[in-house]
Amino acid sequence: MTCDVLDDRLAAVSHLNQQKAKQSRDSLADGGRAFRKSLLNWFAINAKKYPWRSTRDPYAILVSELMLQQTQVVTVLERGFYDRWMKRFPDTQTLACAPPQEVLKLWEGLGYYSRARNLQAAARLIETELEGEFPGSVSEIKKLPGVGPYTAGAVASFAFDHPAAIVDGNVARVLARVFDFDQAVDSSGGLKTIWDLAGQLMPRRKNAKSREYNSALMELGQTLCKRAAPLCDRCPVARFCVTRDPESLPVKKTRQKTVLLEEDVLFARRKDAILLELESGSRRKGLWKLPALNRAETNKRPSDQERILLTLKYSITKYRVSLYVHQVKGSLADVSEQGRQWVDLTELETLTLGAPYRRVLEKLL
Ligand code: ADE
Repeated sequence: MTCDVLDDRLAAVSHLNQQKAKQSRDSLADGGRAFRKSLLNWFAINAKKYPWRSTRDPYAILVSELMLQQTQVVTVLERGFYDRWMKRFPDTQTLACAPPQEVLKLWEGLGYYSRARNLQAAARLIETELEGEFPGSVSEIKKLPGVGPYTAGAVASFAFDHPAAIVDGNVARVLARVFDFDQAVDSSGGLKTIWDLAGQLMPRRKNAKSREYNSALMELGQTLCKRAAPLCDRCPVARFCVTRDPESLPVKKTRQKTVLLEEDVLFARRKDAILLELESGSRRKGLWKLPALNRAETNKRPSDQERILLTLKYSITKYRVSLYVHQVKGSLADVSEQGRQWVDLTELETLTLGAPYRRVLEKLL
């Protein structure tokens, strides 16, 4: 890529002001080749060894990307989620044919269960409509359920080595700093500019190591170009980076306010069984929980504190929830069983329970 071409592309990025555009232009005057080379040399020595990096199977890569969407690498790996999943559902055919309850059960502990449902829906679509053939282009991969631009680019790049740009939180941070980009990266305009910049820096030649390049950019964000206290003195692309105040970047819109919620549930136990109910709402379909207290059953006045067995606090999206677990006030015979089910304690392991309820039961049983 010639300098002129990059000049034009940078000039087209209207959010970069003239001076910053010039600085970025100077440091990336060869079209980004030296930037990529420095990054790839660093990655060749420092790359972490992950199972999804030693495969080109697009299905295995899709599984890893969906697991990693909301969950840290250590959780996915060290708690065995990825290995268990790949062992039980090694390909789209096996996953397509599996009972949905078993699919959810294997996802238990990762949360955001729509990811598991989407994975199975994607496997079924591939098996029933694509003759078992995983789609091979970004636009076709994006048609799979639960797959957005980032995931489609990641699968295309990691599995097929397509020169597809990807922008996740780590990449956005690296690029915002390299270009000293001070628009909010979570605004639609700001995000579009970051995607444009990622696309411009992508290697285009055949055999240009798109796969390694994207992994390297992501890993740079995870390990050195961290949100707080970035390790710029060890950064392989520091000489291309325009920002003087990396910790101030990327700019984000004001954070969504945390909403406090209170949730009251009932702990009703017979000798060998516990009262549970199925969650409502399509996003939590198939999951079990402790029964929500009816108003008549709720007892939260201070004088009745002893009736609360346990309080557990947890966060989900913007909510900070205080979960109050209530003891049955009177006799078990008075507890409504409507919409609820006595579940034998021996069956508890086979059901999928939301993480907070599983934690409560681990504490109380
Ligand atoms: N986070 C999301 N995708 C990832 C990947 N492929 N490797 C490491 N961390 C990731």
